[in-house]
Amino acid sequence: MSGTVLITGCNRGLGLEFAYQYARDGWRVHACARDLVRAEDLLALEARFPEQVQLHTLDVNKDGQIKALDRVLGDETIDLLINNAGYYGPKGVCFGKVERELWRQVLETNTLSPLMLTQALYPRIATSKLKTVAFLSSKVGSISDNQSGGGYYYRSSKTALNQVVKSLSIDLEGAAIKVVALHPGWVQTDMGGENALITPEESVTSLRGLLQQLDMEQSGRFLNYDGTVIDW
Ligand SMILES: NC(=O)c1ccc[n+]([C@@H]2O[C@H](COP(=O)([O-])OP(=O)(O)OC[C@H]3O[C@@H](n4cnc5c(N)ncnc54)[C@H](OP(=O)(O)O)[C@@H]3O)[C@@H](O)[C@H]2O)c1
Repeated sequence: MSGTVLITGCNRGLGLEFAYQYARDGWRVHACARDLVRAEDLLALEARFPEQVQLHTLDVNKDGQIKALDRVLGDETIDLLINNAGYYGPKGVCFGKVERELWRQVLETNTLSPLMLTQALYPRIATSKLKTVAFLSSKVGSISDNQSGGGYYYRSSKTALNQVVKSLSIDLEGAAIKVVALHPGWVQTDMGGENALITPEESVTSLRGLLQQLDMEQSGRFLNYDGTVIDW
């Protein structure tokens, strides 16, 4: 099975691995990053798969860039949208040190922008064959899993994202669009750090397997990369 995928945050980490694996397997890949000039690995991927990979400048927080992307896509449909771009914000911020503006930036990137992009690209997804929207969430956004407190910026942004995913899955059910929140595992990327448990290759291979088998029954779920359901 192949189709057209659009992925945000493709210059490094999980986004780069998603772009690579889909291109390798014959998909058409719209790979977005906010600074293409400095995206060496992504430029190398485009050079390796020139027929399949198309690069786009996209800071997900900029509505003008979302509009420009939509224009450039012409009449293409998008089978699979992967809202991957994410921002942890400053680490180790404990109660008493929370700053409004820093919190706002994390919410903007992780919660608001994925929905704004999905809304802008919706007609392309609705008219595609596979009709799937994936959101990279995180287990630390699970309220029932929160045993250690803290992490105000990132945790709250992913918890709110999960609520967005749930609503969207209900709203898009009539259009037969599958919508899921995915936890990629603790992955060795800049965000996950070097002590993380799995490689981007392992995570993305599993996530792609899940996405390939996804049906409407699973729409609206919060899924771990191994396919198990995570409690909200
Ligand atoms: N790694 C883990 O263990 C882990 C665990 C749970 C969930 N996740 C989630 O998985 C996703 C990918 O994480 P990762 O580990 O690959 O993180 P990463 O290595 O920190 O990469 C983050 C990516 O998001 C991009 N990004 C950030 N803000 C952006 C913006 N405003 N516009 C466009 N792109 C932006 C970054 O681009 P720049 O280079 O321009 O900053 C980068 O490409 C995130 O949503 C993250 O929350 C990761």
